[in-house]
Amino acid sequence: MAEKADAKERRKSPLATRSDLNAEAVKDITGALNALLADVYALYFKTKNFHWHVSGPHFRDYHLLLDEQGDQIFAIGDDIAERVRKIGGTTIRSVGQISRLHRSADNDADYVDPQDMLSELQEDNRALITRMREAHDLCEEAGDVATTSLLEVWIDEGERRVWFLFEATRSREYSAATAGGKA
Ligand SMILES: [Fe+2]
Repeated sequence: MAEKADAKERRKSPLATRSDLNAEAVKDITGALNALLADVYALYFKTKNFHWHVSGPHFRDYHLLLDEQGDQIFAIGDDIAERVRKIGGTTIRSVGQISRLHRSADNDADYVDPQDMLSELQEDNRALITRMREAHDLCEEAGDVATTSLLEVWIDEGERRVWFLFEATRSREYSAATAGGKA
């Protein structure tokens, strides 16, 4: 009987891991990280969408680039969610919750020009970096050094993705300029 009561009590107990960060900071960081987690999964899915649907003469390059970027984005997700749990917050539980929280626009178009895909992802990655910097400020203020150091790595990775996307969208402009120079 006592065992049964214990089990009942355990089910009621909150999922609050004890942390030395103050409760207000935990609440704020949890909110910022959960929104970031939703953004990351939304961007992961858009990157895979374009990986699957890209077409044209640069198919292989773009298909592989977006696969690599998708893997990198996906890997961030688990670390964000586990940071939330480590400081005592709770995190995302469903696709529905992701769709309510994410802040970037979906792209469900039947056909998207490959260069437009890369430009759109470039913008989305830039916006993600901006939000990571905002979360970094919040964590820094609260003394959450573990999350700030992870965010620094993710910002660097995001800047690499933007760099590659930027260079790949310059190709048309570059060939036009080269052709003009030869004439
Ligand atoms: Fe694939």
